[in-house]
Formats: sequence, structure tokens, C-alpha cells
Amino acid sequence: MIRSQIRGSGSALPQQVVTNADLADRVETSDEWIVERTGIRQRYIAGEGETTSTLATEAARNALAAADIDPASIDLIILATATPDHTFPATATQVQKALGCRGGIAFDVHAVCSGFLYALGTADSMLRTGMAKRAVVIGAETFSRILDWEDRTTCVLFGDGAGAIVLEAEDVTEGGPGILATKLHADGEHKELLYVDGGPSTTGTVGKLRMKGREVFRHAVVNLAEVLGETLDAVGLQATDIDWVVPHQANARILDATARKLGLPAEKVIVTVDRHANTSAASVPLAFDVAVRDGRIKPGDLVMFEAMGGGFTWGASLVRL
Ligand code: UT7
Repeated sequence: MIRSQIRGSGSALPQQVVTNADLADRVETSDEWIVERTGIRQRYIAGEGETTSTLATEAARNALAAADIDPASIDLIILATATPDHTFPATATQVQKALGCRGGIAFDVHAVCSGFLYALGTADSMLRTGMAKRAVVIGAETFSRILDWEDRTTCVLFGDGAGAIVLEAEDVTEGGPGILATKLHADGEHKELLYVDGGPSTTGTVGKLRMKGREVFRHAVVNLAEVLGETLDAVGLQATDIDWVVPHQANARILDATARKLGLPAEKVIVTVDRHANTSAASVPLAFDVAVRDGRIKPGDLVMFEAMGGGFTWGASLVRL
């Protein structure tokens, strides 16, 4: 059977670090409030010349180097983002150009914070059906550009960055490694809880992010616990089989609550929200790359990716490395 194998990962962060104390100089907040409610201590914010495509390209280059794969052999690039460089063309095509690979498939996927899971599921389907052989799957965002910097309830929560993985189709025997199952969901009922108040077809402006955080939190814990169970059930595994959970990094309290619901010890959950804050579609591959590079996640491990975001959209993917 054909399965998609993760060959390497990479990430990229803007140069500028903004601490909670820096934000307390701009809006009425405090390091204490932000750390206690979210676990966030700092975030990276894109400066002049740093865009979603430049961060995505750097992350992709690092992933290709880790995989020791020639960029010219990549025939599929899927970039998850809600903050593209331009309304069109797809930012993925600019990454393709920068990487020096031409003629393959390149497009963006838009599922906000779940974007990387949607991109991963799409790439996996395309590899398994033979539409492509080698893919770069990227989550990249510059949310700082759509934040209302006067709104303390949202501006302290997000950061910029990019993460990428290289996937390759491989014929493996039953029970072999690779992406074992991906489950994705959406429910358009709750748009007003998390959205951007602009867009090309409505206001003609880019708009700013608006969120009712407390309600989003409530939905996130329920939806994530459900989709994690559904993904495990699809392959007949238990939560106790999981070596690492790599969750979307929105809030340390959501990570704790989800781990508790699954009966997983907190040590098995990769946490980077303290350093990166919420980087939307970038957060899962960024956190994965951190834990691969520091030696926690190793070949053979069973890894669960999960995310929930605007739409609502949510999903999970179980991978044997
Ligand atoms: O990535 C997509 C998914 N997004 C999420 O998963 C986000 C989920 N939600 C959350 O992470 C949390 O709900 C937040 C971190 C956004 C907020 O935490 P909370 O414990 O739900 O706080 P709250 O919104 O209920 O606000 C509590 C109080 C309010 O004051 P009052 O009304 O009790 O007087 C807020 O005005 O905290 C106030 N507050 C702040 N105070 C200091 C809100 N933001 C701030 C702030 N600094 N930055």
C-alpha cells in the first residue's frame, strides 16, 4: 500500500521578538495576565521584508535540507495560510518559484488554524492516489498584519512564523510507517466567534481579526477531544499508544484540558505556545520541527497532530514516523 512518509521538517521565525512586557506598553495588559490565561511569554513579529512567502520559503528550504531532497524533484506544494502575500496568486506559487522547482502542482489551502491539518490531509490523498510523488506541506502566517493592535483581547495572543514538512509516497506493507489516518471537520455555524472583518468581496479591505475567545475555547476542547478519538478509532489504536501529541498552539490551558480528556500525561504534549504564541496554520509544523530538532520526536514514534480554528474547522492526523 502507498503511504505518505515524513522525510524532514523545517521552520522559520521572524527576527523580532515581542515580549508581554512590550505589549503592556501598548495596551492595558500585563505579563501576569497573559501568562496565567494563555501560557504565552513572547511572540515573533514579522518586520519589513518578512512576509508569509519569505517565511514559508525559509521553512521549506530547511525541511528539504533535513530530508536531503533536491527541491527540483518536488511535484506538489501545498501552503496553508489565512494571511497570503496577495489576494492572488496563491502564495504557494511564489514559494515554488523561490525554491526553483517548476511545473508541479502548487496551491494554498485556507482553513485558518487548522490549515496545516487540511493541507496534510490533501497532500496525503494526492500522494496515495499517485497525483504526485514528493510534496512540501507548509503552514505559514503573518497574523500580526491582521491584528487590531488596540484590542487587548486579541493582539496579545498571536505571532508570526512558518513550519514545513517534506512528504514522499512510499509503497509499504500493511502496518508500515507513514500517515495512518486524517480526520477533518468544519461547521460554518459559528463564524461570528472568530473571523476577520474584511475581505476582497465584502469590504474590499484586508480587515482585522475578531474573536470571542471564551466561546472559542469551549468549542475547541470538545471538538478536539472528539476528533482525536475518531482518528484513533479509525486505525484501532488507543491514546496510550501515542508517543507525542503535537497540538495547535492556541492556549496552554486548551492543551492541558485536551490531554486530560484523553488521559495523556502533559509530558507527551509538545508545547511551544510560550515562545511562539498562536501562529495559526504555522503552529503545528513549527512545534513538530522544534521537537524533532531537540531530539524528543524520533523515527518510529507515533505522533498525533491536531488543530482547531476559524470556520470552525478542526482535524487530527496520526503518523508513524
Ligand atoms: O487559534 C484559534 C483558536 N483560538 C483559541 O483557541 C482561543 C481560545 N480562547 C482563549 O485562549 C481564551 O479564551 C483567551 C486567552 C482568549 C481569554 O481567556 P479567558 O480566560 O477566556 O478570559 P476572558 O475572555 O473571559 O476575559 C477575562 C477578563 C475580562 O475582563 P472582565 O470582563 O472579567 O472584567 C477581559 O476584559 O480578562 C480581560 N482581558 C484582559 N485583561 C488583561 C482580556 N484580555 C486581556 C488582556 N489583558 N490582554
